[in-house]
Amino acid sequence: MPDMGLFVTFEGGDGAGKTTQVRLLAEWLRERGHGVVETREPGGTELGRHIRRLLLHGGEVSPRAEALLYAADRAHDVATVIRPALDRGDVVVADRYVDSSVAYQGAARSLGKDEVRELSMWATESLIPDLTVFLDLPTGDIAGRLGGTADRIEAAGPEFHEAVRREYRAFAEAEPERWLVVDARKGIDEIAGIVRERVAARLLGGEAAGGRRAP
Ligand code: TYD
Repeated sequence: MPDMGLFVTFEGGDGAGKTTQVRLLAEWLRERGHGVVETREPGGTELGRHIRRLLLHGGEVSPRAEALLYAADRAHDVATVIRPALDRGDVVVADRYVDSSVAYQGAARSLGKDEVRELSMWATESLIPDLTVFLDLPTGDIAGRLGGTADRIEAAGPEFHEAVRREYRAFAEAEPERWLVVDARKGIDEIAGIVRERVAARLLGGEAAGGRRAP
């Protein structure tokens, strides 16, 4: 059992399979005796579920209001779920985090990456993940993966999703020690295996928490 927490986030475009991989990683860690907390943004808390509804199904949301609502959801998730879990020594596995805001609001919505990152750093008191897994799915494959009715963000055009993907790839290139890029077209089990290997290395290496500073 680790004596300090580990914070793992999953990022990627819509339909990349993050939710499945979050669940598989959490199950695998639990089988090995780790305390594990799963969360998602937006909507990892009661307050967050209200915010999620407003953001995705509540009608028009102007770009700055959108950025602030995602940051408010995150602030509450960190304060009430993520930090307490890390302080207990648990592993936190999050379906999206700050990098989603920087990619979606900062770049694709043109609000400015630095400003949006600053907003989230304030909201989270500079909590950055130990490891971020980017499930990389070519934009052309997104439509085929999304069943049912698209939410407000999913319904944005291919240029928006291409801009999001470009940003994620640039983040991963700039910070390779934090990011693991995996081709989301690989099979579910193969992806899960690649993720486990990297998480196991982090847990064994005891690198967690040490690097948790503002970027
Ligand atoms: P999510 O529930 O992860 O949807 P999916 O499973 O389809 O990927 O996220 C909902 C939407 O919110 C998604 O389209 C991405 C968007 N989003 C942002 O634009 N900014 C953010 O900070 C976050 C966390 C999500």
